[in-house]
Amino acid sequence: MSEPMLTVRDLVIEFDTQAGRRRVVDGVSFSVQPGEVLGILGESGSGKTLSTLAVLGLIPGRPGVVSGEIELTLDGVRHKLLETLPAVVTRSAQGEYRKDDRRWGRMVNRQMRPLWGRAMTAVFQNPKQSLDPLMTIGAQLDESVRLAHPELARPDVRARSLDWLSRVKLHNPPRVHASYAHELSGGMCQRAMIAIALAREPRLLVADEPTTGLDTTVRQEIVELFHELLAAERRAMMYISHDIREVLFLAREVIVMRAGKIVEVATADDLRTGTGVRHPYTRTLLQAADLPVGEAA
Ligand SMILES: Nc1ncnc2c1ncn2[C@@H]1O[C@H](COP(=O)(O)OP(=O)(O)OP(=O)(O)O)[C@@H](O)[C@H]1O
Ligand SMILES: [Mg+2]
Repeated sequence: MSEPMLTVRDLVIEFDTQAGRRRVVDGVSFSVQPGEVLGILGESGSGKTLSTLAVLGLIPGRPGVVSGEIELTLDGVRHKLLETLPAVVTRSAQGEYRKDDRRWGRMVNRQMRPLWGRAMTAVFQNPKQSLDPLMTIGAQLDESVRLAHPELARPDVRARSLDWLSRVKLHNPPRVHASYAHELSGGMCQRAMIAIALAREPRLLVADEPTTGLDTTVRQEIVELFHELLAAERRAMMYISHDIREVLFLAREVIVMRAGKIVEVATADDLRTGTGVRHPYTRTLLQAADLPVGEAA
């Protein structure tokens, strides 16, 4: 197997709350191979979103503790993502990184922006919120195309944007290009979001419950779209979902999280047949989806 594109080791995230310090990601380790999809399952509040936001340098909220290692390897160059934070995060003798919130935003801009977008980007649920309501879909998409291809002249940028809109199977690309988010349906907005994310040609895509809130038929289409586009482009993805069937369809390897920890690591093939499933929570997920649970471990 080739070297992982992303390696997360022993990631810990804690927040200071009124009830004291709360550990919400508790020693999470995983890796993503180039061109592969890692599926992330887990109950609400188990730390799926925060684990992936940490990779993107986007941990929200009040100061807390972030520790562990995040390594992104692109073209043989290793980026140690948490190591790039010394200006905003002080490291204690125990190896903890303490975040200074005021400088965090500026740091994200300065240190992470060059990676963010080109190297990695995200598609979140609720595209209407993620899309800029004051910019047309086309203007946002053109921006992505320009990021990936600064050399292109204006008409070529537009041509490429229109091509992306047809690749995500939006009918009448010129009309969608000129539309604002509020003029489109939820499913259309999600397709537009996917086009905007993929047009940056990121090496690693984070999709955080990208089908939540869409109706069943549209969900199916979006999942198939991801499958098709990723296979064609050989992009790596972390795909978070509550829907085990979606995850099994897209991912080769799957992690299951619970209360900030990874409780199961398995291949999608093994999960499909229930082979070697260890954690009761994983068994519950399989049962709920009418999948075989295999022998009790
Ligand atoms: N800024 C914050 N301050 C304090 N606690 C937070 C903050 N952000 C997230 N949390 C808590 O961290 C835990 C993990 O959150 P996270 O969003 O990663 O869960 P999740 O697995 O993505 O859940 P869901 O499936 O509902 O999206 C939750 O209990 C959440 O309430
Ligand atoms: Mg989440």
